[in-house]
Amino acid sequence: MEQFIVKGEVQLNGNVKINGAKNATLPLMAATLLCSGISVLHGVPNLRDILMMQDIMTLLGAKITREGTTLIIDTGNVSRAEIPEHLMREMRASVFLMGPLLGRFRKVRLSYPGGCAIGPRPIDLHIKALERIGAFVGDRFGYIQAEAAELTGGEICFDFPSVGATENAMMAAAVADGTTIIRNAAREPEVADLECFLNKMGAKVIGAGSDTIRITGVGKLNPAEHTVIPDRIEAGTFILAGAITCGDVVVENIVPEHLSAVTDKLQEVGVKINSGLNYIRVRAGGFRGVDVKTLPYPGFPTDLQAPLLAMLTLAKGTSIITETIFENRFKHVDELARMGAKIKVEGRTAIIRGVSKLTGAPVAVHDLRAGAAMVLAALAAEGTSEIDNVFHIDRGYEALEERLRSLGGDIVRRGSN
Ligand code: UD1
Repeated sequence: MEQFIVKGEVQLNGNVKINGAKNATLPLMAATLLCSGISVLHGVPNLRDILMMQDIMTLLGAKITREGTTLIIDTGNVSRAEIPEHLMREMRASVFLMGPLLGRFRKVRLSYPGGCAIGPRPIDLHIKALERIGAFVGDRFGYIQAEAAELTGGEICFDFPSVGATENAMMAAAVADGTTIIRNAAREPEVADLECFLNKMGAKVIGAGSDTIRITGVGKLNPAEHTVIPDRIEAGTFILAGAITCGDVVVENIVPEHLSAVTDKLQEVGVKINSGLNYIRVRAGGFRGVDVKTLPYPGFPTDLQAPLLAMLTLAKGTSIITETIFENRFKHVDELARMGAKIKVEGRTAIIRGVSKLTGAPVAVHDLRAGAAMVLAALAAEGTSEIDNVFHIDRGYEALEERLRSLGGDIVRRGSN
């Protein structure tokens, strides 16, 4: 197990370039399975979750090579539409393979997916979507099997705008025999990026980014080349790192509009924000408490709730954070308390009474974004923190410690083997 050793009380200063988005890349990789041939994805981050997806797709018969940040994916020899249980358990995003494999082979078999320990994460909306477009989905011997002699297409109205279920439905519907309309669709930028790639493959998808997406099925798709959008969650994490350390950080290579909910909140608490076409500059010299509710895009992203909460532990006054997307997503709270934070959790709400300082401590990380929160708290705290279970952080942040060091952070990785 590796650890981060962080000496706190530093101000972060300088520029940092943001990588391509993990959450856009995963469905794009899955989408390449919709046809036979060589697709190329540029701007792919080097992360544990991406490697895991590579492993699963390789097992299905895909040949994947990486050249720098480019992935070359040859799906010519993919013949299996069955995903073994141990791989499904490793990563929830493997559920994205359901739509493309069903679309291409009209049959897919997989077990229930795993992923971060952030509460029950059912896949009922994925299943409902595939049923609506003509698949028969059954549950046998712990496996889910979906089949469709004909994928008719159809109307789907989600009870909740699930990102993954919207993306899965778009991929299967792209090669359906008829037309599909998805209502109450997720509006996340990653959904719009998937639409862009599918259309480059020859699909007919319109409306992604709004709550209604229309997909006219086409018989066959072709391989395509695409550059992944920047990672708004990674960008948000660096912006919050700049703010919590009262530093001056320019986050580059981003789409500022994707972070409007975040910059809006930061301005509300007294942090200075300037943005240009592809950058945001954050400067802080202290901040006030604020009330925040996580919401589907364009609301405040649940993936930045933990890093924001870490920052608000040092705010002047009280903050209230309500987590509406996931249950059980306050696992960072107990660890922050070890550093001197004053937080009370009641159901889906955390009440944070700002303290004047945090103190370094040995802490553990229980999921990816909670990991980012602990790193941010440690950068601002007095003294040294030892952060365990860094592998969670490596799922979603590439070389986080090196990039924080380039901004002046005192953080090193220590192996234990
Ligand atoms: C994606 C992101 C994740 C982010 C989340 C919400 C990827 C790889 N991951 O996850 O980082 O935190 O969006 O922005 O893109 N739900 C159901 N039934 C379903 C599907 C979802 O009840 O069939 C519930 C989930 O349990 C959760 C909520 O809907 O409470 C949101 O989930 P969803 O939008 O599907 O998130 P993911 O696509 O898994």
